[in-house]
Amino acid sequence: MEIISNPEKVFRKIQGYKLKRKQVGFIPTMGALHEGHLSLIRKARKENDIVVVSIFVNPIQFGQGEDYNAYPRVKNADSAKCKKEKVDMIFYPKARDIYPDGYLTYVEVERLSNCLCGRYREGHFKGVTTVVLKLLNIVHPDTAYFGLKDYQQFIIIRKMVRDLNLNVKIKPMPLIRETDGLAMSSRNKYLDNDQRKEALLLSRSLFSVKKMIQNGEKRAVKLKKEVYRILLSGRLLKKRYIDYISIADPDNLDDLKIIHGHCVILIAVWIGKARLIDNIII
Ligand code: PAF
Repeated sequence: MEIISNPEKVFRKIQGYKLKRKQVGFIPTMGALHEGHLSLIRKARKENDIVVVSIFVNPIQFGQGEDYNAYPRVKNADSAKCKKEKVDMIFYPKARDIYPDGYLTYVEVERLSNCLCGRYREGHFKGVTTVVLKLLNIVHPDTAYFGLKDYQQFIIIRKMVRDLNLNVKIKPMPLIRETDGLAMSSRNKYLDNDQRKEALLLSRSLFSVKKMIQNGEKRAVKLKKEVYRILLSGRLLKKRYIDYISIADPDNLDDLKIIHGHCVILIAVWIGKARLIDNIII
C-alpha cells in the first residue's frame, strides 16, 4: 500500500492504472476510520482493481468555532486499517497541497446546500463540494463511494456530478449502526458514557416513526411530534439542542407535509460537544 501526499504524483499513478484499463474505486474520507468507512472500502475492494482512500480533514468545510482542530487525526491507526482491507493507495495531502497560497476557486450546489445542515453550518457544503470536486479531479476514479449517514451530502454530491457532467459513478452505501442503533460517526468519540446513552434516542425515534409510517400514518406533523417526544424523553437533550427534524422527499430534500411514497427522515441535534446527525429512508 502506498501513502502519497502529492496530488500530481497521485494523478500520474492513476493515469498509469487507467492505461492498463484498471477500474479505480475511491473513498474520500476525513480519517478516524470506523466500520462505516470500512464497509465502503470493502465494497470498493470487491468492485475494482485499484482502491484509493483519501484522508484529509478539509479546513474549508468547518465553520468558525467548529471542531476543525479537535477533529480526530489518527494516521497510523487509519493506515493499519486500510492495509488490512488491502487498499492500494492512501492519498494523504496537506492543506497547502489542496489549497495553495492564493487559492480562489469554489463550487457550490445551490438550494440543496442551504437547507437542513446548510442552514446551521454556513458554507459547509460549499467546502465539501469544492474538496470533493478537487479530489475527483486528482484521483479520476471510475466509482466513488459515499455513506448515506451523510444523506444531504450524498444528494448534493450526486447533483454536482450530474450538473457538471463529471465522468464518475457515485455509489450510495447504507448507513452503518452500532449494535445498539447508534449511527457510526467519527464524532461519536466526543460523547461520554451518559451522552452516548442519550444519543440512542436518535435512532430510537427514527425506528418508532418508521413503524408509524408502516402502520399507515402519513401526516408529517404527527410523525415529527413522535420524534420530538422520544428525543426529549431523556435527561440531556433539550429542545434548544435540536437543530432540525425533517421529513423530506428523498430525491430533492423538499419538506413533505403528507407522505405519499418514499421519504427520508433527517435529524440533527447537539449532545454535549457533538453535533449528531441521523436519518432513515422509508
Ligand atoms: O464525509 C466526509 O468525510 C467529508 O465530508 C468528505 C466527503 C470526505 C469531504 O471532505
